[in-house]
Order: sequence, then C-alpha cells, then structure tokens
Amino acid sequence: MSKQEKDTSMDKIISLCKRRGFVFPSSEIYDGLAAVYDYGPYGVELANNIKKEWWKAMTQLRDDIVGLDAAIFMSPRIWEASGHVKGFSDPLTECKKCHSRLRLDTLLEEAGVFADEKMTEAEINKIFNDNLNKVKCPVCGGHEFTPGKKFNLLVQSNLGNFTSDWSKEPTYLRGETCQGIYVNFKNVLDSARVKIPFGIAQIGKAFRNEITARQFIFRTREFEQMEMQYFVQPEEEMTYYNQWREWRWNFYLNLGFKEENLKWHKHENLVFYAKEAYDIEYKFPFGFKELEGIHARGDYDLSVHSQASGQDLNYLDPVTNQKFIPHVVETSAGVGRTFLAALTEFYREEKIETETRIVLAFPAKLAPIKIAVFPLLKNKPELVAKAREIFDVLKLTWRCEFDDNGNIGKRYRRQDEIGTPFCVTVDFESLENDEVTVRDRDTMKQERIKISELENFFRLKF
Ligand code: GAP
Repeated sequence: MSKQEKDTSMDKIISLCKRRGFVFPSSEIYDGLAAVYDYGPYGVELANNIKKEWWKAMTQLRDDIVGLDAAIFMSPRIWEASGHVKGFSDPLTECKKCHSRLRLDTLLEEAGVFADEKMTEAEINKIFNDNLNKVKCPVCGGHEFTPGKKFNLLVQSNLGNFTSDWSKEPTYLRGETCQGIYVNFKNVLDSARVKIPFGIAQIGKAFRNEITARQFIFRTREFEQMEMQYFVQPEEEMTYYNQWREWRWNFYLNLGFKEENLKWHKHENLVFYAKEAYDIEYKFPFGFKELEGIHARGDYDLSVHSQASGQDLNYLDPVTNQKFIPHVVETSAGVGRTFLAALTEFYREEKIETETRIVLAFPAKLAPIKIAVFPLLKNKPELVAKAREIFDVLKLTWRCEFDDNGNIGKRYRRQDEIGTPFCVTVDFESLENDEVTVRDRDTMKQERIKISELENFFRLKF
C-alpha cells in the first residue's frame, strides 16, 4: 500500500511550477522582473479552467448577470473620482541597514502587532513607534527604519500624452477591473434588458505597484481579477450581500477545495461608505490569506462617477417609478490566488516503496490536460499511427496530449505531476484486438477498454 502524504511547502510548489511549465519568472533570461510572472503551457490551461468555472458560475448559470470586457486604459478622471489617485496607497518604510522597501502594515503584522493598510500615515506611524522594539527587517534583521509613508499603488503610463488633452495628467493602467463595470453601468442598462437586481461580471488584468513582492504569485504587480458588481435596491443590499457570501463560499467547495482550508475574515476597519466587508481566506502554505473579497459598498461608486462625469446614473424602477442610485454588492477574486490555492489544495506526495510519486490530484474540470495518449514505443510506426488516430478523435472533445517520449513509467509520472486524470496506451495487443490500456491517475489502476468505447468511457468520467 502506498502511503499518501500532504506536504505542500511553497518551495515544492514553486519547483513543480518551473519544472513542469506552470509558472515562470517574467523576463527570466534578462534576470527577471520583480513580482511579475508568466504562465507556461500548463499554467495557461489551469488559469483558463479557473476562469471558465468562474464565468460559468457567474454568468451562464444565472439569468441576472451579464458579462463585460472593458479596456485596461480608462480616462484618468475615473481614478480621480474613485479616490484611487489620492487614497490607493500602502504604508511604506525602508530598512536603514539594507535599504529594503517594506510594507509597514505587513511588518507590524509579522511582529504580532495589529495594523491595517487603510490607517492614516499618522495612525500607523504611532503604532510603529510604540512597537519599534518588536519589529525587525525580514531581509537583514535590522532594527532601524525610516518613518512610514503612504505609497500610491497606481501604475502610471504615458499613453497618448503627446497628443491628448490629458497631456498634463498621467494615464494609468487600471488598478482594479471593477471601475470599468461602474462606468459602463448605464450602457449595460440601456442595451441589455436588465432589471435590478442584476450583475455585471468581468475578468481582466489589473496592475499595482506593490511594495513587497514575496510569496510567488500571491502578490504580483500584474494580475487578473474576476469581479462582479451586483446592483440592488438600497434596502435589499444586505440580503443580497449575505446570499453572495454563501454563493462565493460554495464556488470554492465546488472547485473541490476542502472546507477546512477556507476561512472567513471580517474587516473591522471599514472605509466610510462600506456597510460590511468579508474576505474568504485560503490556507496557503504560508498561512490563511485573502483569496476573495465580498463587499457591501452602498451607492458610493455610482454616486462618485455620477457627480464627477455629470451623467445621471440613477435607475428608474419600471414598476414603482422610484428613481435611485443602486447599491452595489461586489465579489472580487484573483485568478493567480485561486491558481496557487488549487496547487496547494491538490498537491500530493505518495511514497511507493523507495520512490516518491508527486501528483496534482485536480478534479477533471481544473486539470490542464484531461487525457494523455501514448504509443508504447516511439519507433514502431503501427503503434504511433494507432495512437495518433485515437488522439485525433479525443482531441475534438477534450484537451489531450500526445506523448511518445521515454519509457511508459516516466510518461505516467510526468502526467501525474501535471494532474492528467487519465492516460491511454496503445500496445502490440491493441493492434490485434482494438483494446487500449486506460490508466487512472489517482488509483494507478489500469483497465483494458475497446477503442470504439473510449469516447463513451470518458463522457461518463468527465
Ligand atoms: N475591486 C475590489 C478590489 O480590487 P482587492 O481586495 O484589492 O479588492 C480583490 O482585490 C482580489 O484581487 C484579492 O482578493 C486578490 O485575490 C486579488 N489581488 C489583489 N491584489 C493582488 C495582487 N497584487 N496580486 C495578485 N492578486 C491580487
């Protein structure tokens, strides 16, 4: 019997990601670019599967949510109105010894002192000064720091600044995707036959000048968000908020995450307009950390954009004739964080006699490759031709991989490491009886299946 162990240290996950083509440091041949990562051949499949599941849950399975894909570049007036230009900042300090730039709230948190990125500069500096003896630089161990300063996270660009009216103002790469939803509220309302309550869902890139960039893809400067804004009657905001908390929790259970690896975190230090905010946290190898935020945001967002743009963003209720600015319930998740949570959740190490088998035990919907097809030997054209025939049929329905390299044992291990649920092997017997070996990733059991039955077999599995 094999002994199954769950050991998901970050080093093991990072090493698997590099070795098997899930995640690479960006610009690696030029020494990399801090806190930016590229998704490799299997990484892009896993990320796409996560996005597909989210999109299905948030649009296809609902008749009250529509999709949107707003541009990354937006008028800089949006970021002024939303408060990001003034207030989207983290507290920064510098170690006087090694000159590492560090997030002050994280530094305090690591020393067991409560602090929050939303505190004012004065508030957080007071806590910092009162607790200086507890804090040390995580890089060099130093104890002397510069005073905390607020550091704006928006990433500036020079788009169009040689021709446009905005030449004196910088443009920004969007710091969150949801602003594209707010500023298209009226367009969607006027074109999509939606009635309150309804939601707009969007998946897309966001950019932040993050100060500390450790923890692999957990906190990056370029990342993807999956955000949904649900527009409701003011008095119904908390009812829908509570529903959304439940639905989003269940989304992760449906992905196959164990409930014990999820936790709620309630925000105590709310921004003035928010009614309530909770994070769903996941038990990453470095502890429970935010996976998704669910926020009751009142009418703040539409109100500020209505005022700043001069456009009427009121909703006219067709039944009651009541006119009001809708309140918003937001659900905001990160693709990279769900990706890292999935790797953590499904990573397994099994001792088989003297060997260690590494498996990503993904549910089929997340697996980058669903079926791998092998000819037993690469140099036997009849085996290769038959395996190709099978691959050409299965690929029409499922993401498959053809592999004729190395011995079968090694090919199985490679597919285990990328999480492929099934491998199909064509051997000499297959040429005589039209049967192939289907090997199950989790049980490692092998069974003979008629080639003509393969599609039916997999339809029942996936
Ligand atoms: N519109 C609300 C909003 O952007 P947030 O808590 O700043 O809220 C939402 O971000 C989610 O986006 C987070 O829960 C996380 O999953 C993801 N996220 C935020 N910053 C990130 C970063 N620097 N790197 C990776 N993911 C990030």
